Amino acid sequence: MSFTIAIDGPAASGKGTISRALAAHFRFAHLDTGLLYRAVGARLLEGEEPIAAARALQAGGLESDALRLPAVAEAASKVAAIPEVRAALVDFQRAFARRAGGAVLDGRDIGTVICPEAEAKLFVTASPEIRAERRFAELQAKGVETDLAAVLADVRARDERDMGRADAPLRAAEDAVEIDTTALSIEAAVARAVAAVEQRGGRAG
Ligand code: CDP
Ligand code: CDP
Repeated sequence: MSFTIAIDGPAASGKGTISRALAAHFRFAHLDTGLLYRAVGARLLEGEEPIAAARALQAGGLESDALRLPAVAEAASKVAAIPEVRAALVDFQRAFARRAGGAVLDGRDIGTVICPEAEAKLFVTASPEIRAERRFAELQAKGVETDLAAVLADVRARDERDMGRADAPLRAAEDAVEIDTTALSIEAAVARAVAAVEQRGGRAG
């Protein structure tokens, strides 16, 4: 039996952390769909044509530190505005969502476009300032040279591009439960997410 948890929200809102915790709690598979766009963005930075890169993408083994760099995030949000790039990535995401045993997908358009029929939907938000602080701390821990003002500017620019594009803009689905993590610990945010999913009928697989 399949059960899909769709999680959307802006950069560094905590959706990845919540998704991983939900996947562990319910014993579901997890797909960070941002990695698909980051992989295409990385190919763009290497000079490849993004639509061809999206069509050729092999989703296995995507996780890598290089994909987490700010320049890749910016390139990802640029290629993510190209309808043909988005179209090339739909089938893989939908098949993942419907796998037996349950799935958690996080991104920008999971509850609205990829899985409008998802059993449970969350929209994770936080203030731009706290999101920039969190992302800055992560980049510092990885030894990436940057400063808080630059990270905040990146976060705001990416939010605007993601919310303003014509195809699959970032927005909450009407039936999504909103979780504002600005003043929440990770534990408190995860507890709210687990409760919301259980209320929609989610049970550990
Ligand atoms: O996936 P997304 O970009 O939305 O964010 P994330 O990678 O889950 O979270 C960004 C950073 O914020 C991570 O270092 C988390 O540990 C941290 N975080 C936090 O401090 N408090 C929360 N309630 C959620 C995340
Ligand atoms: O971790 P963070 O929230 O900073 O970014 P991400 O989830 O890895 O996504 C990187 C970029 O990919 C976003 O800024 C979006 O432009 C794009 N994206 C998208 O358009 N649709 C998705 N389902 C996931 C990501």
